[in-house]
Amino acid sequence: MKSKHYIVITVVLVLPLAAIAFHLWSGIGFEALRSRKPPFQIRYDMYYQSKVGAQQGSTYFADRSAMRGHVPGTVPRDGDLYTYTTWEMAEAELRNPVAGMSDVSGRGKNRYDSFCATCHSPSGQDTTEVVRRGMPLPPNLAGPNAKAYSDARLFHVISAGQNIMPGYADKLTPEDRWWIINYVRELQKAPLRLVEIHSLDTTSTPTTTRGELQ
Ligand code: HEC
Repeated sequence: MKSKHYIVITVVLVLPLAAIAFHLWSGIGFEALRSRKPPFQIRYDMYYQSKVGAQQGSTYFADRSAMRGHVPGTVPRDGDLYTYTTWEMAEAELRNPVAGMSDVSGRGKNRYDSFCATCHSPSGQDTTEVVRRGMPLPPNLAGPNAKAYSDARLFHVISAGQNIMPGYADKLTPEDRWWIINYVRELQKAPLRLVEIHSLDTTSTPTTTRGELQ
């Protein structure tokens, strides 16, 4: 055979077979499709990185929390300091810059679902896992109270917090907070529902029932 034939045979047969054999052996190809075992790690440090994830504990900081708050006196690049200490002050000065605008980008819903629904539920009216696990039931966002709040007052609650609800000024840009308010206004168009809470402790009777008012 001429040497040209060896090259053709190598390219057409040997190389593809070698590639298939390598896939089978390494587990990165077909093995992953039929095995429930974790795949063979070629680069171990890509799977197991020396970092902490969100909500994980860490022994690095004294408070053993991996997630850090913002450094006092600093603001996010796209944020600003929230200086109002009462909702009355906020109401006297703030106006919703996106009032009445439809949320075409879905920003309000996206931010609400990420930052508020955990406690207030996607509808603003229902119970959530954190409530079932012991957090007091937050007020109904479609209830008469929140409905009567001005946009500026809602902005104040979101920015500064209210009682056990933390403030979100360091996590949400002012613009996002206004879009959330528009989205809450959308949620408030739904009929008011009553919500019954069953605690995780199944030996006790349902603990809280929310009536028309909270
Ligand atoms: C960690 C749970 C939690 C998260 C997250 C949360 N809230 Fe709250 N929220 C509460 C609780 C609890 C209250 C009741 C506080 C009180 O007793 O005054 C509350 C109160 C409120 C109120 C006042 C309602 C009233 O009738 O006085 C509004 C408005 C509100 N939240 C909106 C939001 C929005 C918008 C977000 C997202 C940016 C959000 N909350 C995120 C727990 C939460």
